Amino acid sequence: MPVNEQSLGLAKEIVKCGGAVAFPTETVYGLGANAFETAAVENIFKIKGRPNDNPLIVHIHKDYDISSLVSDIPPYAKKLAKAYLPGPLTMVYKSRGKVSSAVSCGLDTLAIRVPSHKDAQRFLKYINLPIAAPSANISKHVSPVTAEHVYSDLNGKVALILDGGKSEGGIESTVLDCTGEIPVILRSGLITREMIAEVAGDCGEYVLKDGEKAKSPGMKYKHYSPKCKTMFFVAGELDKALFEYEKSNREGVCAYLLCDDETAKAAAVKNVLNLGKNGEEIASNLYLKLREGENKAQLIIAVAPKEQGGVMKGVMNRLTKACKDV
Ligand code: TXA
Ligand code: MG
Repeated sequence: MPVNEQSLGLAKEIVKCGGAVAFPTETVYGLGANAFETAAVENIFKIKGRPNDNPLIVHIHKDYDISSLVSDIPPYAKKLAKAYLPGPLTMVYKSRGKVSSAVSCGLDTLAIRVPSHKDAQRFLKYINLPIAAPSANISKHVSPVTAEHVYSDLNGKVALILDGGKSEGGIESTVLDCTGEIPVILRSGLITREMIAEVAGDCGEYVLKDGEKAKSPGMKYKHYSPKCKTMFFVAGELDKALFEYEKSNREGVCAYLLCDDETAKAAAVKNVLNLGKNGEEIASNLYLKLREGENKAQLIIAVAPKEQGGVMKGVMNRLTKACKDV
């Protein structure tokens, strides 16, 4: 449904009764429920088939006072919030334990996000509750960037999908640990390490070591995967990718090349999923093209873009998890 008084009224009723509502954000669509209610939060895990040790982000309206939910907010976090919120930056703080413990899967921290999408803000203001919401896809599938994507994954499982058009950002928010001396990126996204360091003075990046317990449990799972087979090649391996492309199509396996505009031009083949020219454009198109690809290809052959800095860090993280066997 389009976002209007009627659909927002319905959304409020559903959330108040412990149900889940899909809603647009500037990154990807979310599947939201009342963060204070354990049964409502557990229901989200059930709908998605999500592992129960992967915590959820709480979404709030821009005027919501986070000090009721979390404590020990460091000065650098206040600066970052001023610079980048509302926007695609999720900040992890020490929890006051006010929301259901099912949200953070027993961790003593809470991830908070203030989305900038105008319809997300309208929804959050109307409901006036912290909303626990993962991306609105079946667990491990490609995240949804349109209401149609949500419908194709969750048809029959959710009562309402608020349609706010295409999510322009295209990849999930940056998740930033704000519990230490300096901020540390747990998941890369549109707010880059450079952007955070510029405001906070410094910014670390969390790397999961073998055998270590993941600080952000979502990192350890296979993710963002299209339903068809995939192959992955690094930038500079276009010749190898083209060899596989020709071979597959010759053998009757419908293969598509997934690559940036420059590579698409160099490849000059018929079946291309063109991601676009620069980091932002590629991020915005990534899930759209992965979903388009799984519907028309039997094999997606991904070739990584040459550009690797800034936003491309987050794009590469998603692209490798989607198309490479990791
Ligand atoms: O852009 C986004 O962040 C989207 C939209 C809907 O807001 N949401 C999203 O949620 O991507 P989800 O559930 O797909 O991913 C949440 C990520 C996971 O990697 C999870 O492990 C991490 O955030 N996370 C959540 N709470 C955490 C916490 N307390 N400590 C560390 N990581 C946390
Ligand atoms: Mg997700």
